[in-house]
Amino acid sequence: MHKILANTIFLGKDIHFLPECHSTNDEAMQLYKQGMVREGSIVITDKQTKGRGQRGNQWYSEPAKNLTFTLVLAPSFLDASQQFDLNIIVTLAVQEVLAQYAPDIKVKWPNDILHQYEGKLGGVLIENSVSNRGLDMSLVGIGLNVNQTDFAFPGPTSLARLTGSEVDLWEVFRLIIKSIEKYYLLLKRGEVELLRKLFIQNLYRYNDWASYRDTKSGVFSGKITGITMEGKLKIEKDTGQLNLYAFKEVEFL
Ligand code: BTN
Repeated sequence: MHKILANTIFLGKDIHFLPECHSTNDEAMQLYKQGMVREGSIVITDKQTKGRGQRGNQWYSEPAKNLTFTLVLAPSFLDASQQFDLNIIVTLAVQEVLAQYAPDIKVKWPNDILHQYEGKLGGVLIENSVSNRGLDMSLVGIGLNVNQTDFAFPGPTSLARLTGSEVDLWEVFRLIIKSIEKYYLLLKRGEVELLRKLFIQNLYRYNDWASYRDTKSGVFSGKITGITMEGKLKIEKDTGQLNLYAFKEVEFL
């Protein structure tokens, strides 16, 4: 394991490798409180024992087979209403790299990376610390199924399952860090329109009719037509009505 990444400008110049830990997001938070990490630091582990996912879910990952890591960012150029821009650049970067290994990889709003037909490959858990100055600190946790081939329950897949062979874990890691840095710097330069366009181009079910469920209408047929500036999902119903959803307000069926 290399201590720094040679192919980047600031991301991954300081890598904390932990053979085992509960959650790299929690470890990164502890190290942040102790002043041990800075913008661009990465906390990565081979064995995460209490990985956290979205909606209070757990994130399971077979030791030494997959990627589980957290990036420390200090995106103070964003204010609280622009938090979703970080989801955009991170999911876009991961999608871009995985698409070099297998076709049909998409971003599922808001945080998932999946293969259009085979299942979920990974997810992103971003935890922000917001002040009146903006986003002081952002912990970007990424979990990706790379070489795991057996899963305890249906739903997930991995790069190895999709490609039929083992994948170089550290190559995937290096490519992802490089790609996140590229998109992060574009965001910092204010290229948000371009980034949103790329996000939409790679969005799972964009412009396709599919089934959804929300608490108000129950199950309905609709198509995703885009996202708002704050990252809400726009779904046009078959009745012609346009609905906006915040995270957790709509279920993909
Ligand atoms: C999800 O799909 O629900 C998000 C999963 C995020 C998992 C990653 S693994 C590294 C980091 N540490 C955690 O505890 N969670 C994230």
